[in-house]
Amino acid sequence: MATKAPRCSCDKPDHSHPQLSFNSENKTQIPSQLVADKKKTMTLGTPPSSQAYGEPWYWDNRYAHEPAPFDWYQKYSALAPLIRFYVPHRHQRVLVVGCGNSVFSEEMVNDGYEDVVNVDISNVVIEAMQAKYSNRQQLKYIKLDVRDMSPFQAGSFDAVIDKGTLDSILCGSNSRQNAAQMLDEVSRVLKDKGVYILITYGSPVYRLSLLKDSCAWSIKLHVIAKFGPEGSSEQPVRGLTDPIPLDESGSSVEDVLGKNPEVHYIYVCTKEPKAKE
Ligand SMILES: C[S@@+](CC[C@H](N)C(=O)[O-])C[C@H]1O[C@@H](n2cnc3c(N)ncnc32)[C@H](O)[C@@H]1O
Repeated sequence: MATKAPRCSCDKPDHSHPQLSFNSENKTQIPSQLVADKKKTMTLGTPPSSQAYGEPWYWDNRYAHEPAPFDWYQKYSALAPLIRFYVPHRHQRVLVVGCGNSVFSEEMVNDGYEDVVNVDISNVVIEAMQAKYSNRQQLKYIKLDVRDMSPFQAGSFDAVIDKGTLDSILCGSNSRQNAAQMLDEVSRVLKDKGVYILITYGSPVYRLSLLKDSCAWSIKLHVIAKFGPEGSSEQPVRGLTDPIPLDESGSSVEDVLGKNPEVHYIYVCTKEPKAKE
């Protein structure tokens, strides 16, 4: 089972911070890993508060003690139909923000993608990933804070993929400001008509205004069932590539999915070109 997320200790008025929890989908698929991961969860314990997920020291510490690959929320195999739908050409340039030690990018390359750049604020994880993938020229790992991606020129990428990174930034102090900086940078490094694919536990009520305030996106919403206790996906809630109708506030989604559905939300935000003056 996924461990419970730590109780909220932050002062967010809207509780828009993530309740990140350690996912467990790999565990039952590979029994030996199940044992290792169970041990891991027990020895690591939970961080002092969810706020820790927003702090670089937490991640350096976690990756120093937990070098084994770990994918938050969902694996590439589950999301692949959606990624292929929105990033249809394998030569398109992809940026994965807050990559951690997930195998998501490796699996994208195995699926044919030719240029997948990964950034993370944790030096520990970036050094480990650089060593691990030194012979995969399609994969690059760079230590970078997503709030300042100045080494990348504007319009460098066709797609930016974020699985759990905006969520973790929303946990820290100054979360709104940090999230806005991150989203500004994501938009800047995207080409016009490029897509920001945000995979999050955050429902539209908590994520839509943040996204809309930041940039001129057109936004589509998809959902995918969380993994069940046996490590298998629950029944599909809806076809993965079939977007959910979205009104201004995002409250329409409840009409379709009901209250508190067991899903991860996937916001596909297309960068609209600035109107010519
Ligand atoms: C919840 S983990 C997700 C890891 C990976 N994307 C996955 O799906 O398994 C969040 C990641 O964001 C990284 N991170 C947090 N704040 C960051 C920042 N300001 N800049 C870059 N990476 C950051 C953390 O180091 C961590 O690897």
